[in-house]
Amino acid sequence: MQRLFTGIQASGALHVGNYFGALKPFVELARENDSMLMVADYHALTSLRDPAAVRTNIINVTKDYLAVGIDPAQAIIFKQSDVPEHTELSWIFQCLVTVPFLQQAHAFKDKVAKGLEANAGLFAYPMLMAADILLYDTDVVPVGADQRQHLEYAREAAAKFNNAYGQTFKEPKEKILEMIATVPGTDGKKMSKSYGNTIPLFGTKDEIAKAVMSIVTDSGSDKPENVFAIHQLFKTESELAALYEEHKGKYKNLKEALIEDIDSLVAPMREIRNAIAESDVEQVLKEGGARARSRASEKMKDVRAKVGVTI
Ligand code: TYM
Repeated sequence: MQRLFTGIQASGALHVGNYFGALKPFVELARENDSMLMVADYHALTSLRDPAAVRTNIINVTKDYLAVGIDPAQAIIFKQSDVPEHTELSWIFQCLVTVPFLQQAHAFKDKVAKGLEANAGLFAYPMLMAADILLYDTDVVPVGADQRQHLEYAREAAAKFNNAYGQTFKEPKEKILEMIATVPGTDGKKMSKSYGNTIPLFGTKDEIAKAVMSIVTDSGSDKPENVFAIHQLFKTESELAALYEEHKGKYKNLKEALIEDIDSLVAPMREIRNAIAESDVEQVLKEGGARARSRASEKMKDVRAKVGVTI
């Protein structure tokens, strides 16, 4: 049995990319492993300054976790801010890595390149993520390809600490499924909240239809590449070959088929989700937070002693 850990920022509604990149692989592995699933609410503060939205996002992401089939009796579902050891360990890692090292992080570089103001939280973001993962002696982290660099940063933080203070942290591995490493959005670029090109995972059928109808199809060929790229997540190669042959050049028909395929995956999960009350979410997070905290506080006892702050 391995320790599995992943997280999603509480920064907006989850999309199809989050589902295929992180949640689906997590659900598949969660049953046979010791699994932890976190709502990254402190990470969301790097981009969100609206307290009501943060709260709503925490509730919604937790509902999404439950709706896709994570059993809270088995996996630990919790939110980052309920376990203050995450921010504590992140500080210790920040004291071990250099500024030039953090300056290489994609999220930080992208913001600077766009001329946007990057806050210090965004700069230190990879060290909070390293703390999330390393606190629990994680073996495997199911994520999309965009998180590959963050896993390298986590391993580097572990190695730096182990070098300085003796063996303490395991070096975790990412699990990125090659076929769905980067789910494309409606414009063919990586599906991302910040690009406004998402298909919402738990949108209504109308919302899903609106997003699918907006998929850019100016490829000029018989096969609308952007539609096909998303469709691959929902149907097998042979099913798609037949469908795209039958509707050659008929973009609207193919989009309608995609809407149906997305909806038939989502509909049962949407039903489960609609039955989840806010009080259920509160209970799940309370219990998960206590379980996570007891693991984290054990680990931090060792870490504090090693860095010398325990007297
Ligand atoms: P976030 O919130 O941006 O995304 C959550 C997960 O969804 C995956 N993902 C995608 N996968 C495939 N195609 C896409 N278009 C796509 N868009 C998003 C991401 O790769 C990710 O797995 N830093 C993390 C959150 C985090 C975390 C952690 C993850 C905080 N602490 C500890 C793992 C372990 C993030 O911003 O993910």
